[in-house]
Amino acid sequence: MSAEAPGERLPAWRGIIRHYGAFLPVSEATPLVTLNEGNTPLIEAPRLSERVGAEVFLKVEGANPTGSFKDRGMTLAISKAVEEGAKAVVCASTGNTSASAAAYAARAGLRCAVLIPDGYIAIGKLAQALVHGAQVVQVRGNFDEALRIVRDLADKAPVVVVNSVNPHRIDGQKTGAFEIVDALGDAPEVHCIPVGNAGNITAYWRGYCQYREAGLATRLPRMLGFQAAGAAPIVEGRVIDRPETVATAIRIGNPASWYGASAAARESGGAIAAVSDEEILAAYRFLAAEESVFCEPASAASVAGLLSVGVPTGSQVVCVLTGHGLKDPDVAISQVQVPGAVEAAFEPVLDALGL
Ligand code: F0G
Repeated sequence: MSAEAPGERLPAWRGIIRHYGAFLPVSEATPLVTLNEGNTPLIEAPRLSERVGAEVFLKVEGANPTGSFKDRGMTLAISKAVEEGAKAVVCASTGNTSASAAAYAARAGLRCAVLIPDGYIAIGKLAQALVHGAQVVQVRGNFDEALRIVRDLADKAPVVVVNSVNPHRIDGQKTGAFEIVDALGDAPEVHCIPVGNAGNITAYWRGYCQYREAGLATRLPRMLGFQAAGAAPIVEGRVIDRPETVATAIRIGNPASWYGASAAARESGGAIAAVSDEEILAAYRFLAAEESVFCEPASAASVAGLLSVGVPTGSQVVCVLTGHGLKDPDVAISQVQVPGAVEAAFEPVLDALGL
């Protein structure tokens, strides 16, 4: 391989609003609150490609500033909140939205309150919300109950909701689709994505459609969305009162963008399907061990789904890996053998290594 242009000054990436502003509801007057999110790697997955007989790419959203795709929507939602004169923002979250909201609100000098399900958010995400200075309220209930309270708060208090019921979130997140098309030269044939509150699948579908309308893509992908089997309201066609899954990020029983997700699947000739926790964890381990990408459990649902439904031979496929594996070290450790300590001497180490 040849080096491309060492020493050449590359144009700096300065976030999704500056890059894709022509497709976003912003003007010169919009104050930009950005951490230079977006421009995440789209990497080839040779072993996964071999397993499924297709050309598979991974969109590594864990490479965003707070470690998840939420930053794409949050930069726009917070910028617009500042433009509209807001002083405080609020969200319900399974963890990543709260981490992102806390970071972008701090950057903007806004107050941020987050409601999270007590005992069901990954420890890294809780740490993020707290270190960025959000007011964290742990609710004895699940995400759906927390979101209901947040919607009530917005009706009765001077706060802006930054969940994906805020349309700016979806608009920001659609830029993930733009980047995929820009990298591949066209839309892929199949797009695999985890589904929780269903904002992201709605956003990607909008992004692909808008790029095609603008003449920047010639085709649209089939959208395959995957819910965890214990939290699969769209697949089962009913609200799930007590959703359960190891993938706590998508432990949601009544998604706000239910309609958007169903429409994306229907209009694209795709589907929303369920994957078991065992399939999710197998894909999670495979991605880390075979593709060297450490994502969080919910993210691995996209690959678990691809492995379970399959695609026509030779298809070009993109799987979105929505969040970084370090967010949830407890699950990571539960999936491996942690070795005991040996004496700090040559022989015991040699023994331990079996050399
Ligand atoms: N993957 C991760 C890592 C997530 O954090 C989420 C959602 C999803 C997938 C599903 O995306 O909700 O747009 O369908 N997390 C939200 C949160 C609910 O509060 O952080 P979705």
